[in-house]
Amino acid sequence: MNATYPLAEFPDYRLTPSQIPETVCEILDATTRKVLMKRIKQLLIKQNAILVAHYYTDADLQLIADETGGYVSDSLDMARFGNESESKTLVVCGVRFMGETAKILNPEKRILMPDLNAECSLDMGCPVDDFSAFCDQHPDRTIVVYANTSAEVKARADWIVTSGSAVDVVRHLKRQGEKIIWAPDKYLGEYVLEQTGADMILWQGSCVVHEEFKAMELVELRKQHPNAKVLVNPEAPAQIIRQADVVSSTTGIINAAKEFDALEFIVATDAGIFHKMQEAAPGKVFIEAPTAGKGATCKSCAHCPWMAMNSLSKLAYTLETGANEIFVDPDIIEKATVPIKRLLDFAKNQQQLAGDA
Ligand code: 13P
Ligand code: SF4
Repeated sequence: MNATYPLAEFPDYRLTPSQIPETVCEILDATTRKVLMKRIKQLLIKQNAILVAHYYTDADLQLIADETGGYVSDSLDMARFGNESESKTLVVCGVRFMGETAKILNPEKRILMPDLNAECSLDMGCPVDDFSAFCDQHPDRTIVVYANTSAEVKARADWIVTSGSAVDVVRHLKRQGEKIIWAPDKYLGEYVLEQTGADMILWQGSCVVHEEFKAMELVELRKQHPNAKVLVNPEAPAQIIRQADVVSSTTGIINAAKEFDALEFIVATDAGIFHKMQEAAPGKVFIEAPTAGKGATCKSCAHCPWMAMNSLSKLAYTLETGANEIFVDPDIIEKATVPIKRLLDFAKNQQQLAGDA
């Protein structure tokens, strides 16, 4: 079963340090910040545009989205919201695959992003030609691809999943007797495999942010905070996941902070999430899981360098000029729509089942 596929056959898709930018967060004086936020809100109204932001983006962007009828959420819900919104222009604060997903689901809408260089190491580590050739070698397998991939890779897939839906989708496929190619995140793949026991071959990509959490240092931190609950995103390595009280998507992590009776939480995901966690569970204490320590190489240290490219200044510029529009080839849109819609329908059915139970 599973990752018995010889790993030597996978080219090394680890990013080189020069491919990972420094995490640069915009620092503004109070007056400039206020002026920019006001201007952005005016521009959103004037252009009948809606701001959809990921939990990992700057807190000010999340505030603007919340205050202007926009939306802050995880990648699945961002796609769902964009699909349901009436607005002709969506401004997606996040990374490029999120903008592309919005375009695929809403080809008639104008999709803008503050910075088109906002990539994702998982997307970068899964080039479509190599991936497609790999899939061709395994025609008997269902291709399940994480949302953190290019539109072209999505177009090659049978199913798209997010961290919040991966286990349920793969469990469903296993019940149908299907064998799976999983891409690109090897850690999330290992976690899904362990949870479902499905027959999966795992592409060897990784998230440069979640990969940096350090297991030994986490053990020490837990000793210092014995009552803290540990909340982990499944893109983290298995040694981190093993120490978790909850392994979940970004939304699941925020919900756990609300629902658990604990006062302290150690959080192994991007630090951008703390804004919503504090809002959801005021008075509780959130501690970053350690990224420094033996073997530390990170430039991002618990904050995604590409998410950090979404700044107030760039957002204002994008709205002023219409720059940074996302375009996706219509053929790719047609093909990629199928597996994305499959996920959205599946998620809707799951919600209905949960509601009926
Ligand atoms: P979510 O699907 O939970 O939003 O996560 C996306 C992501 O990029 C995590 O690193
Ligand atoms: Fe990609 Fe990791 Fe950044 Fe998420 S946190 S966008 S998976 S690089």
